[in-house]
Amino acid sequence: MDYFQYQDTTLFAENVPVQQIAEQYGTPCYVYSRATIERHWHAFDNAAGKHPHLICYAVKANSNLGVLSVMAKLGSGFDIVSGGELSRVIEAGGDPSKVVFSGVGKTEQEIEFALSKNILCFNVESAPELERINKVASQLDVKAPISIRVNPDVDAKTHPYISTGLKANKFGIPRENAVAIYKLAASYEHLEIKGMDCHIGSQLTDIVPFVDALDRLLLLIDELADMGIAISHLDVGGGLGVAYKDETPPHPDTYVEALMTRMKTRPELKLIFEPGRAIMANAGILITKVEFIKHGEEKNFAIVDAAMNDLIRPALYSAWQNIIPAEISTNNPKATYDIVGPICETGDFIGKDRELEIAPDDLLVVRSAGAYGFVMASNYNSRCRPAEIIVDKSSLHLVREREVLSDLWKGEHIIE
Ligand code: LLP
Repeated sequence: MDYFQYQDTTLFAENVPVQQIAEQYGTPCYVYSRATIERHWHAFDNAAGKHPHLICYAVKANSNLGVLSVMAKLGSGFDIVSGGELSRVIEAGGDPSKVVFSGVGKTEQEIEFALSKNILCFNVESAPELERINKVASQLDVKAPISIRVNPDVDAKTHPYISTGLKANKFGIPRENAVAIYKLAASYEHLEIKGMDCHIGSQLTDIVPFVDALDRLLLLIDELADMGIAISHLDVGGGLGVAYKDETPPHPDTYVEALMTRMKTRPELKLIFEPGRAIMANAGILITKVEFIKHGEEKNFAIVDAAMNDLIRPALYSAWQNIIPAEISTNNPKATYDIVGPICETGDFIGKDRELEIAPDDLLVVRSAGAYGFVMASNYNSRCRPAEIIVDKSSLHLVREREVLSDLWKGEHIIE
């Protein structure tokens, strides 16, 4: 459930008509609903109940400071993949002691920065990374908390670009090598083994791979316990899918409860979740204006003011996101359109073959744009990135200003 709903023929973001937001801030713009973010976050948190747990929101899904500040106020933890994301979390008032640091290529500077902020844990992805973290920790004379990202080799059956738990992926340590690498970690003086971690992919719509992965990790945890290596938390990653079209992913509470059935006999093992998309995707929209209607020989095009630089998911993954009018009108003829942007590439589309009743200057709304939307935006074709707004009941907060032209060449220099 989200708070972008029609009242009669008018689409509202919480209590504010979408049209009003566009008039106030211009288009294209991203709008996030605070109530929806909070609702989704609580769905995870409540379902985990009294079992020790921490929701570490995956910052990569949407790293706007306003969004992070909403999470911070909920008491959320954070899953980060760079020093930049850690800086954003701190800037937004997040608690570094609730931060887990994922990613395959952490630099020495990033490790040092994270250690200086006393993060909760490094999710380690390779033996050389263990060695590097130990080295930096020894220079600072501290012990670095680590967990090993184990690749459980389950097929998440999602888009190949966002499937991460298979042997062929660059992520994690193969299950067969996990014991050896935990032994290696135990031999380093400046590492402290805290947990075990996995992340099998994104936009999963079935519970089975999650439960399979969990079962495999629990077996491994028992094996390590027999060898005297204690694991105090298990990080199950993110990856729960959302309904973009007709997918039927489990609700967060069903997903969490399914995992909880395996945890009843392990009350001491803390669970960490790293949801990104499931919290943010349907908590955000992209508002765009129809510039022109163009009737081609084979297709009709609605040329809008948002483009692949603003929202790249359709172009990059052939992702389908719903496109709906801000105001339902029956004044225009119904036709099937490709919704395309002004960028000089055939791949610049937001949606294809959409039946709409629209005219120039109408506002369209791209749904499910709160995750992997703005964060993947670029300045391609020297286009300014859009504004971002958080709606909170009847209040609007501009949480990122629309870029201006001089932002485009900030840091660049001409030469003689
Ligand atoms: N934890 C780790 C270690 C991850 O790599 C990811 C996402 C997450 C958590 C959060 O996954 P989520 O709950 O959002 O599925 N740009 C793509 C998605 C890439 C996901 C990468 N990793 C898209 O637009 O679909």
